[in-house]
Amino acid sequence: MSDTATSTVIRRADYTPPAFLIDSVALEFDLVPERTFVKSTMRVRRNPDAAPAARLDLMGEALELVSVAIDGAPHPAHRAHEHGLTVDNVPDAFELSIESVCKPAENTTLSGLYVSSGNFFTQCEAEGFRRITYFLDRPDVMSTYTVTIRADKAAYPVLLSNGNLVEASDLPDGRHAAKWDDPFKKPSYLFALVAGKLVALEERIRTSSGKEKLLQVWVEPHDLDKTRHAMDSLIDAIHWDEERFGLELDLDRFMIVAVSDFNMGAMENKGLNIFNTKYVLANPETATDTDFANIEAVVGHEYFHNWTGNRVTCRDWFQLSLKEGLTVFRDQEFSADMQGGATDGAARAVKRIEDVRVLRQMQFAEDAGPMAHPVRPESYVEINNFYTMTVYEKGAEVVRMYQTLFGREGFRRGMDLYFKRHDGQAVTCDDFRHALADANGRDLTQFERWYSQAGTPRIAVRTAYDSAARRYAVTLSQRYGDAAPAARETQKGPLLIPFAIGLIGRDGADLPLRLEGEPAAGGTTRVLELTEAEQTFTFVDVEQPPLPSLLRNFSAPVIVEYDYTNDELAFLLANDSDAFNRWEAGQRLATRELLALAERAAANEPLSLDDSVVAAFARVLTDESLSPAFRELALVLPSEPYLAEQMAEADPAAVHMARQFVRQRLATALREEWLAVYARHETPGPFEPTPQAAGHRGLKNLALAYLAELDDPSDAIRLAVAQYDSANNMTDRAAALSALLAASATRSAAQADGALDDFYRRFEREPLVIDKWFAMQATQRGSQERPIIDTVRRLMGHPAFTLRNPNRARSLIFSFCSGNPAQFHAADGSGYAFWADQVIALDALNPQVAARLARALELWRRYTPALRERMRAALERVAAQASSRDVREIVEKALA
Ligand code: ARG
Ligand code: ZN
Repeated sequence: MSDTATSTVIRRADYTPPAFLIDSVALEFDLVPERTFVKSTMRVRRNPDAAPAARLDLMGEALELVSVAIDGAPHPAHRAHEHGLTVDNVPDAFELSIESVCKPAENTTLSGLYVSSGNFFTQCEAEGFRRITYFLDRPDVMSTYTVTIRADKAAYPVLLSNGNLVEASDLPDGRHAAKWDDPFKKPSYLFALVAGKLVALEERIRTSSGKEKLLQVWVEPHDLDKTRHAMDSLIDAIHWDEERFGLELDLDRFMIVAVSDFNMGAMENKGLNIFNTKYVLANPETATDTDFANIEAVVGHEYFHNWTGNRVTCRDWFQLSLKEGLTVFRDQEFSADMQGGATDGAARAVKRIEDVRVLRQMQFAEDAGPMAHPVRPESYVEINNFYTMTVYEKGAEVVRMYQTLFGREGFRRGMDLYFKRHDGQAVTCDDFRHALADANGRDLTQFERWYSQAGTPRIAVRTAYDSAARRYAVTLSQRYGDAAPAARETQKGPLLIPFAIGLIGRDGADLPLRLEGEPAAGGTTRVLELTEAEQTFTFVDVEQPPLPSLLRNFSAPVIVEYDYTNDELAFLLANDSDAFNRWEAGQRLATRELLALAERAAANEPLSLDDSVVAAFARVLTDESLSPAFRELALVLPSEPYLAEQMAEADPAAVHMARQFVRQRLATALREEWLAVYARHETPGPFEPTPQAAGHRGLKNLALAYLAELDDPSDAIRLAVAQYDSANNMTDRAAALSALLAASATRSAAQADGALDDFYRRFEREPLVIDKWFAMQATQRGSQERPIIDTVRRLMGHPAFTLRNPNRARSLIFSFCSGNPAQFHAADGSGYAFWADQVIALDALNPQVAARLARALELWRRYTPALRERMRAALERVAAQASSRDVREIVEKALA
């Protein structure tokens, strides 16, 4: 039963330092799937900086206690309970030995020590270590670890843990042992152990100081042919961090291990990163260009954590964004540099656009709902629910704003000071902000509000041109919109907002900028610092009425309100020197049209689209001076969830009708152009994994997708069948299959069914590709006669489907519930009933994954009344039946 009174709320304000510290720990594992025996020997002492405590309270979950000893003697003054182990009568400093048993084979939560494909893996962040042994499982307790692993040698030939291998030996009875030593102090959430039948791709490299390092990517034997890209990404990441931040790899050995059962993307355990296979395994036949890019980003992300997260870690989990926001920012910059080099603005903009699209669709929505929280949350029930878009993506935007304010050099100075002050420590977001402020001689007191206020700021822009005085006044005013109560509570005052702006002349070129009071003009983009609720910035010597280019490169995570005309947006789309804002102009234009159409669709009025809008998109489509990657992004319409979120009352069916109408209109009006673009960007010859080649594939496949929208999709079917059969890479093969599925909505499904069967048989032994097979079917367009929920229900019974593997559950269930809004929000509520069933079923196996799925309904109050009521009923059913703290926190907040 749901019962708020039983969920303990953890508050940031209640932080107290630990009463005891653990300086070192020696762990011994006897690995057996059913019962693994763990002996932990810890050097414990009282924390001189904490209030004295009468007893030692260790955390522990799902453990069987065997024995407790202090300084070698049995210590009967202890008590094991539901949340851990209490030890009474402890001296000031002592050696504590604890023996216990955990049960990896029956651990379906994938937190702690568990078995996947017959091998052992761990996941300890945030609070999984307590499921392995009793410990002070909190990030401000940092210890050195030595780990001895014993296991059957035939079943588990490879035994890995953090740091360096110091001993390996054979034992009687066909067992063997390995001993690992990690010289760096670390919190328990960075502990890792892996054991099983694995093989590695190895490289030796030299880092900047000339030291040789061993790099390994460990996988199951049949996956060795899919490790090269992860290894290359790791090597690139190591060099990038040396060059950009002067940060060198600090261990002799760095290992990545892939596991197919994993709750999240990957984990930065010291020297032994553990990854979801999805973010390691790739070759051209199995992985798309997007997969390749994601692998590079996630390998970079986890590697960069070695400094931002591991060398300097978080004092408590409220500070999660200290490491996550910063590390996401670092991986974004890494990907941008890899794609476009440090200086190619247009190529870098592609990455920026992709990141902002995710932020606006996902984080802005989170910030408008019941889970809204500041980048540094004030409270939580279950910390795993706070690995959110806000902590990660908005947190990265907050870090980016320092760089926008201080420049790359100023940001680097701040980073250097941060490491100089805090290496080896567990610190707070304030410590990071102070390092940036002090290194740049700035007072950043006001900037703190970015960490403590939830909700998305809106900036209204007014402009006035005085032709006689040749002055152009830009007035910016900031406020929060009608956020959910959760966000409103936190809002205290105006933010410091870096607002990048340019002024564009009649000829489309940037005007030189001179603000009132400045001696001379300089530059064509200026970062205005908005600090008041309302402020006016006046440009002087402005020869002609300019068109403003606002919030260039998305210089702050805000919503800009300015009434451009359609002609002005078309002009910006064609001319803005800021590539991000060119894209933005097209999105604004499309969004405005689509929302107007959605209102008409909701009212059953006929739909029509102005020729000028078609013309604006036609110019982008045919402009061969623009990079294909940019054109692809500019020609993708805003997503259905993003559009629904902009409506007074979200109406997914109306949004879908409007968006489909525009897609079909663009397909029909520009049919010849799409065909020409398809032909021109076909890339015959051997597969190349470069960003340029990926750009051509992306644009070509977008053309195919539009052609599949035509009333007569026979061109698309012909091209897709040929492309499917001749594809030498997954990007092209999957795009061809998607196009056939889309065309089958209007035409016979024969080709689509044939290709689906072929695809399944071809890739039966590649689980990550079979995930795509499920996802493509779950997200396909349906119709009244062919509701996709029927397909999804049927696929739940497919022999390859299982709820226990998170990737597989995500590929079918999450894809349908979050990736197919028009079908999921069916008027009869069938989608919601399905959702409730799956949340409840998953909750019994894996609360973390169940809680993610539970979030699919959190914005229920924003929908039209009929849908709202059906959603409420589904939420109430889950609230009544969910047993985990994870799911209860989500549904209770949603219903509150
Ligand atoms: N620190 C990991 C990363 O950012 C995420 C791990 C989160 N895991 C969890 N169960 N909450 O890459
Ligand atoms: Zn991370």
